[in-house]
Amino acid sequence: MISPALDAWAPGGGAAGHGPGHGIPGTRDPLGLLDLFGDPFVRDPYPWLDRLRSEAPVHHDPATGLWLVSRHQDVRHVLLDPDVFLPDNAQHSVTPLPVAVLRVLARGGFALPPALANNGTPTHPGLRRLVTRFFHANRVADAVPVIERIADGLLDEVRSQLDSTGHCDLFTWFAQLLPCKVLMELLGIRGVDPATLIRWSDASLELFWGRPPLARQLELAKLVVEFHQWLTDTVRGGTAAPDSFIGALARHRLPDGRPLDVATAVGVCFFVFIAGQSTTGQLITTVLRRALAESAMWPRVAGEAGLAEAWVEEILRREPPVTTWRRVTARATEVSGVRLPAGAQVLVMLLGSGSDPEVFPSPERLCPRRENIRHHLAFGAGRHRCPGASLARTEAAVALRAAARGLPGIRPAVGAGEPPMLGLLSFRAPLALVVE
Ligand code: HEM
Repeated sequence: MISPALDAWAPGGGAAGHGPGHGIPGTRDPLGLLDLFGDPFVRDPYPWLDRLRSEAPVHHDPATGLWLVSRHQDVRHVLLDPDVFLPDNAQHSVTPLPVAVLRVLARGGFALPPALANNGTPTHPGLRRLVTRFFHANRVADAVPVIERIADGLLDEVRSQLDSTGHCDLFTWFAQLLPCKVLMELLGIRGVDPATLIRWSDASLELFWGRPPLARQLELAKLVVEFHQWLTDTVRGGTAAPDSFIGALARHRLPDGRPLDVATAVGVCFFVFIAGQSTTGQLITTVLRRALAESAMWPRVAGEAGLAEAWVEEILRREPPVTTWRRVTARATEVSGVRLPAGAQVLVMLLGSGSDPEVFPSPERLCPRRENIRHHLAFGAGRHRCPGASLARTEAAVALRAAARGLPGIRPAVGAGEPPMLGLLSFRAPLALVVE
């Protein structure tokens, strides 16, 4: 739905409207209709992103107060300059949390001190090294048999549903569960079932990156507090295996030699447990959806060496699950000739940057043989670049190949229509993939 408030807005009318792409005050500009949470943008963001790149590459969005940066080279520039573009706002709630919601969080002891994505302090490199140890490429390569075993187990269940009912939702029964189960094995997470972890993780995404109404915010805050309290109890309990992720956090030392405090250890887990599964489940769903939509692709990815990996890469470029990321300026600066004040909240449009024709010719075509196939920014860049990239890529390729081999005869269910979409500030993916 197009928000009436935005309909009336003409860029350039306020203090924020300077530089290229900003309209003349009072002029009706279609970019004024942009609603980052609205159905038209979530369903088909590409025409909007094309316009942003070509007409307003640094655009102030009055509804969120964010400065949208959409050209590939500008997005890279922002991500590669962490001294000017700080990560401090990466996990802030995009929709202001009313007092009633803040009270629920405060009563539950919820806090997210700087840990990983939101940490621009000297404690970041050490914490990042700890995370990277669990997810570096060699460790992921060793985990392939585990990922395949989990994928095959889930596909058995999918097949039995298909046999008994004739259809199955691959999002719920396969794509979402696979990364959660893999993460639990790799990090040694015990004492919680995957469905609960998924519910907590999805609630956290919606509360901090969504635009829920108050009643929903309250429900979500309760789930987020449950998640946080479970993590706090697990970290405090001291019973985690020494080789588990939480065991490693307990042994971690800060640059000044102190052990990690509980709140920061919980903050690290909170981010990794969410980032490590929701995003990859979203990626797998889009990867499967687009492969099923091209009838020749499904049998080919089952057999052709390297094709599943290349297909995943093209989806990451064109339709990544993490669509945007935030930074805040440490001081006044300029991007593409547009002046940003100190404290400007910047939103890098990762999804749009993968369709920048300056970098990717014919960006709308999914082209597994593309020369610069890995030049996308789906995993960010620089100091905070996603340390889970190797795991995410591998899981998605294994999932695609296993599904294409194990379910050769499936197709999107006739009459299923367009799936409902997750449309948060930074996360976009189908919420169903019904096949028959
Ligand atoms: C398709 C799946 C994934 C996508 C698209 C994705 C994307 C991203 C992006 C865009 C960032 C911010 C980068 C920046 O600020 O420059 C990020 C950070 C991060 N991601 Fe991922 N991610 C995915 C999967 C994973 C997985 C599987 C894990 C862990 C197992 C993970 C862990 C992290 C962590 C810990 C950070 C913060 C790193 C830091 O601040 O140093 N992500 N990810």
